[in-house]
Amino acid sequence: MSPTPGLEARGRTGTAPLLLTRGLRKHFPLRGGVLQRVQAWVRAVDDVTFDVKPGETLGIVGESGCGKSTLARLILRLVEPDAGSVWFDGEDVRRALPGRMKRLRRDMQLVFQDPYASLNPRLTIEAAVAFSLLVHGVGRAEARDKARALLGRVGLDPRLYGRRYPHELSGGQRQRVNIARALVLDPKLLLLDEPVSALDKSVQAQVLNLLQGLKTERALTYVFISHDLNVIEYVSDRVLVMYLGQVVETGTAEALAEAPKHPYTQALFASAPSMDPDRRMERPPIAGDPPNPIDPPSGCRFRTRCAFAMPKCAEVPPPPVTVAPSHDVACYLYEPATVPA
Ligand SMILES: Nc1ncnc2c1ncn2[C@@H]1O[C@H](COP(=O)(O)OP(=O)(O)OP(=O)(O)O)[C@@H](O)[C@H]1O
Ligand SMILES: [Mg+2]
Repeated sequence: MSPTPGLEARGRTGTAPLLLTRGLRKHFPLRGGVLQRVQAWVRAVDDVTFDVKPGETLGIVGESGCGKSTLARLILRLVEPDAGSVWFDGEDVRRALPGRMKRLRRDMQLVFQDPYASLNPRLTIEAAVAFSLLVHGVGRAEARDKARALLGRVGLDPRLYGRRYPHELSGGQRQRVNIARALVLDPKLLLLDEPVSALDKSVQAQVLNLLQGLKTERALTYVFISHDLNVIEYVSDRVLVMYLGQVVETGTAEALAEAPKHPYTQALFASAPSMDPDRRMERPPIAGDPPNPIDPPSGCRFRTRCAFAMPKCAEVPPPPVTVAPSHDVACYLYEPATVPA
């Protein structure tokens, strides 16, 4: 691997990525018995590599338990990886000294699924938004003004809502507070982990539109995690599909919706209720048991549920193959030699 993957990636794409990961891995030990010995390993994230360009929204999609949240936590170094690296803005996050790490954490902010759990029930929402500013040494009056302005921007009039407590707000309003809180330190990147999954459909649309508007205004870059393909397709420029801790396919949102290559991506799109009648394909749903990242299958992890599995799929995990510009798929059906010219 090149010592500076940012430079290497720039050579390929023209713009240096804002965020990139190389070979990121996290296996959690499962302990049991009287001696609390390690009985199995949960391969939550296994050799994950991707780039996110400045201004881009990368959607990450996959079934529950495939490692999406662990990946977000690895990026923020809330969880230490077993292997691999994360580069942000040209810097190796793993090597950052504590002072620098504090700065990187300002520039990368996380928004969670549960808008209530991440808010302190004892703080008014104005205080909640101003809190990080105070911690970073901003004066009281300035912090309050900035918090109020941001609350207004996310659709919560500070005169009406500023002194309310989280329990006095709806789920959608609380998520607006969390978004304001994530933005108060002017980050470059937002990691959004299922930010609208707990909300009603109509409220989802409002919050998604708010996020789109903020992204343009503030020149933000998003990593947007969701298990909902309709949401992912709506917000993403590029989409990364995960299966049991691994990346099976990456491509533009259009390429994946119109011509998904990996049998898992095909099954995902076929099983998602689509608004578009032209896209309602007659494909078999995913066969077999739901995935379990404890001791996953050898070789390709999807092979046990795949209608096209071949003997070699059980041997070595298929490496990603580029099937079109910015469209990579990790599947032996698309080996360079077998792709028709
Ligand atoms: N701290 C931990 N210790 C042990 N196992 C963990 C830990 N955190 C996550 N896991 C396991 O790692 C796997 C991936 O979990 P993760 O939360 O990243 O999945 P996810 O894709 O975000 O799922 P969901 O869509 O349900 O949020 C799961 O099997 C989970 O049980
Ligand atoms: Mg999750």
